[in-house]
Amino acid sequence: MLVSSKELLDAEKATGRAIPAYNVYNLETIEAVFRIAKARESPVIVSFGESYLKHADFATIRAIVEARSLEHPYPVCLHLDHCKKIEHIRAAIAAGFSSVMFDGSALPLGENIALSREVVSLARAAGISVEGELGGMNPESGEEPADAAQLRYTQVADVEEYVSKAGVDSLAVSVGNAHGLYKDKPHLNMERIAEISRVAGIPLVLHGSSGIPTAQIAKAITLGIAKINVNTELAIAAASAAKTVLDAKRSARFEELALAAVDAMVAAADPYLAVCRNPRQFLAG
Ligand code: 13P
Repeated sequence: MLVSSKELLDAEKATGRAIPAYNVYNLETIEAVFRIAKARESPVIVSFGESYLKHADFATIRAIVEARSLEHPYPVCLHLDHCKKIEHIRAAIAAGFSSVMFDGSALPLGENIALSREVVSLARAAGISVEGELGGMNPESGEEPADAAQLRYTQVADVEEYVSKAGVDSLAVSVGNAHGLYKDKPHLNMERIAEISRVAGIPLVLHGSSGIPTAQIAKAITLGIAKINVNTELAIAAASAAKTVLDAKRSARFEELALAAVDAMVAAADPYLAVCRNPRQFLAG
């Protein structure tokens, strides 16, 4: 059964743990997510962004994820990642997604609040939850390594107004994290995470978790991050595994590449699930 992200994240935050949200866009990526969640006996968030609509439609993704969730003995949330268009939010809700993200982070605060409220009322009517975002992240599919220092950090002063007026269930923050590969070693601003968490009072979400050192993710979880988004690390592992197969065998067929890619994504996903389930084990020093 699919559960809302609020149900999952509130429970995880209360126990000092987090849940990874892995991005999916086809059968292989979904297979990898369920394999790692099963191996680690864990709930999981399966995350499909509107930018992936060129790969599959909402109903197809929902059908595959629901079928796989019936065999998974732990809760599964099907989440719409980074969505800027209300029509896509309506379509994902109609297709049976159990959580949606409205990304109004590039808008002035007042507009972000107004549109987030609209999304919250659509989601409430369907009994599902909403993730909002404050602060600026680089685009999800950046070609160049991102410079986290140039991002627009979430302003603590905006948080209380946004959360109380928009009514979202979780909040994505910009605290030194960036989508894609990092140009330099990332340094999350832990004081800011703690302060935002105190003011927001709802689970926080860390986008761009690929490449953030495990000890930093662990610390962030202890300070209020309850969901970490992971995509790039899996996507690169899959592509590189496919290349290895092709380099070794010129006649390799697509199905052989796909199987190698799934194995590589499972291996790449594992450290993120491990730190989410037991962050204290990974704290530095
Ligand atoms: P990465 O691709 O950097 O892991 O970020 C994923 C993400 O934040 C999806 O919303």
